Amino acid sequence: MTGIVQLQNVTKTIKGKTIIDSLSFEVNKGEVFGFLGPNGAGKTTTIRMMVGLIGITSGDIKIGGNSIQSNFEQAVSRIGAIVENPEMYKFLTGYENLIHFARLSNKVDKQKIDEVVKLVNLSDRIHDKVKNYSLGMRQRLGVAQALLHDPEVLILDEPTNGLDPAGIREMRDHLKMLTREKGLAVIVSSHLLSEMEMMCDRIAILQKGKLVDVQTIQDFKNGVDHVVEFNVVPVDKALVIIQALGIPARKGEAGLTCKINKEDIPSIVKSLTTENINVYGIKEVTKSLEERFLEVTEEREVSLYA
Ligand SMILES: Nc1ncnc2c1ncn2[C@@H]1O[C@H](COP(=O)(O)OP(=O)(O)OP(=O)(O)O)[C@@H](O)[C@H]1O
Ligand SMILES: [Mg+2]
Repeated sequence: MTGIVQLQNVTKTIKGKTIIDSLSFEVNKGEVFGFLGPNGAGKTTTIRMMVGLIGITSGDIKIGGNSIQSNFEQAVSRIGAIVENPEMYKFLTGYENLIHFARLSNKVDKQKIDEVVKLVNLSDRIHDKVKNYSLGMRQRLGVAQALLHDPEVLILDEPTNGLDPAGIREMRDHLKMLTREKGLAVIVSSHLLSEMEMMCDRIAILQKGKLVDVQTIQDFKNGVDHVVEFNVVPVDKALVIIQALGIPARKGEAGLTCKINKEDIPSIVKSLTTENINVYGIKEVTKSLEERFLEVTEEREVSLYA
């Protein structure tokens, strides 16, 4: 299956500096695809190229098979996007804003407006002035606007920025619904791994303009080693016994840490107690996703949690 969005060796150079370096990947219909990377990684720049706000230095982006360079109109007609803050008229109601944007696109009718309002769950407040909206409601109005012309691809740069946990959850549920029920491809960016984990089916990890990895969230998590900590006395003797079993182990803060599968724990305990080692505790110390991310990017000074 070829993706609805295809990036082929996309490169962006600004004033002699390579900001995006030969990015290639595909995004499929029906999935939420995340761009994950620290500040300055190039997420917004990539998105700006995808929606045609800035040019591509070399390479190509295809939307539904149409090149954004040689077939611009066809390509962008399939995209709905919010890049940076959506421009809304604060003194108009949400509905009036949508009417305004609908006029810019000739295939939008009133029925379509009602449909997107319902979709983003704004029916109750759509006739209130936008200045009285909460941030989350403005975001939802932005999504409604981006959906007006029935795009196949929805691209949102940092959609959860500034939202509270309930707002984030709501956004997440909405995006998932759009992929599952409407078959859209949704592309979101964030520098927060915890958020991407809950929102996305697959993530592309971007660092200094380069693609580090593209994985499903599940595979990303499965790459996490299972480390078990044994609180044992005497430690040195236990270390020799465990290593003799062919298990990688080292002395840790509270005893021994070993890379093993959970199923191996009983036999290890048996071996230890047979050799008169006292076992005081067994704890799984699975690495956090953040650690896994740092492992993948080897960028240890960057903290992913705000
Ligand atoms: N017009 C420009 N001129 C010069 N440098 C630019 C320009 N636009 C972006 N950059 C640089 O490109 C790099 C990537 O920026 P970009 O905004 O794409 O990052 P980002 O991943 O979206 O970061 P953030 O998480 O902070 O939003 C940065 O180093 C930025 O300074
Ligand atoms: Mg950005």
